[in-house]
Amino acid sequence: MGRMDDFANAAAYPDGLTEAGLTPDRLRDVLELDMWAFPTADSIEDLLGVPSPLTWDRAFGVTDAARPGELVALRASYPFSDTPVPGGRLKVAGLTWVGVHPQWRRRGLLRTMIANHFAHCRERSEPISLLYAAEPSIYGRFGYGLAARHLLLTLKRRAELRPVHGAGELQVRFETVSAERHGDLIAGLHAAVDRPGWVTRETPELAAMWLTDSPLFSHGHEVERIAIVERDGLPVGYALFRRKSEWGPAGPEGSVRVSETVATDAAAAYALWARLLDLDLTAEVTSGMLATDDPLLSLLVDVRAAKAAWKDNVWLRIIDLPTALATRQYQSDVDVVLEVSDTLLPDNAGRWRLTAGAFAVASAERTDAPADLVLDVRELGAAYLGGTSLLELAGAGLVTELRPGALRDASVAFGWPVAPGSSWIF
Ligand SMILES: CC(C)(COP(=O)(O)OP(=O)(O)OC[C@H]1O[C@@H](n2cnc3c(N)ncnc32)[C@H](O)[C@@H]1OP(=O)(O)O)[C@@H](O)C(=O)NCCC(=O)NCCS
Repeated sequence: MGRMDDFANAAAYPDGLTEAGLTPDRLRDVLELDMWAFPTADSIEDLLGVPSPLTWDRAFGVTDAARPGELVALRASYPFSDTPVPGGRLKVAGLTWVGVHPQWRRRGLLRTMIANHFAHCRERSEPISLLYAAEPSIYGRFGYGLAARHLLLTLKRRAELRPVHGAGELQVRFETVSAERHGDLIAGLHAAVDRPGWVTRETPELAAMWLTDSPLFSHGHEVERIAIVERDGLPVGYALFRRKSEWGPAGPEGSVRVSETVATDAAAAYALWARLLDLDLTAEVTSGMLATDDPLLSLLVDVRAAKAAWKDNVWLRIIDLPTALATRQYQSDVDVVLEVSDTLLPDNAGRWRLTAGAFAVASAERTDAPADLVLDVRELGAAYLGGTSLLELAGAGLVTELRPGALRDASVAFGWPVAPGSSWIF
């Protein structure tokens, strides 16, 4: 903890600036600053009409003594207290609402906010932090590695799916999303997904914001709809979507924008996508953020007809290395000495012996034994959820193998049968 404090102290704000916790009565100031960081055509009054998702005791603002009423920078985090990691669950801090007023940019405010965020993660015993990056080039310098990728698919109406046994026995209901009617259903099915990095909207503030529909979110589409799949009256999946009506010379050219799908089995996935792919007056369907192993990819008869774009999903920072490494499982026996560099959190730096049985308990202890692999904490973060292979990173010169065979063995061990990813941007 002592060395940690050094980093927080070393990264100080310029004279006159101080950081303090925020309270709900500062929401207008928060939104004003956010509108400077993320330009929008929406009015502040409209934005104030949407419930704030912030967890206020995790929201911090930076003010200038000369103008104490305004914020010059902002950071917050969400508590994701039970997030799946390979073979386990962890308390995670989801860094969010990061913004610096353009007048103050590139003067080290972000650096200092990150240092304070790390200190708070330590205080709250959150061994990892996740984020979505507005620009991918920002966070690597702070030790965040790209831990998951997702696919966005664009499909033609009536794209053919391989049949799934039992799908015909399921019922699909279409409704308009309502917090009262669907809040528990969505929260229950979403929280049951066991995918590394699958953070869920566990605070009441996040759940309320997520279920609020507002013209601010529709971008020319209709109100938010839900397709619910049921087996014998029990929900086994849902999709959130909006349609947009358009007419071309040859008739209807509407589109469907799916924002999230959860299906507990193959039949539910088939039933959802079969309906979404054949809505009247539409020509095209875009998926939400799909994990790279989403069942839709294997359901499609002609996968090449789907236009696919891949994007960076969550970025991961290891805050407490021994706890993080020992809390996940590995998919093969492993005994490897990792030499880790971490200039910001030196408590993580040095040589660690990772030992684990396949899908069993693991331990990470300091060691003086010679290193097998050398890497930065950023690459360890990228590999942590099992979606980025150490071999892949070594191919880009980011991991160095000192003991022949160690890279292959560790790459297998760090992998995971379920691809990582989160279904929503926080
Ligand atoms: C991105 C943002 C938070 C950076 O804040 P800042 O106070 O200017 O950042 P700092 O001065 O602390 O910069 C720290 C380092 O990051 C680099 N950096 C900052 N923003 C960057 C960007 N957008 N792209 C690449 N590098 C960036 C700086 O050059 C600096 O590098 P160095 O350590 O080599 O000197 C700020 O510009 C902003 O609010 N942008 C718009 C909103 C946004 O993108 N927020 C992030 C949400 S995920």
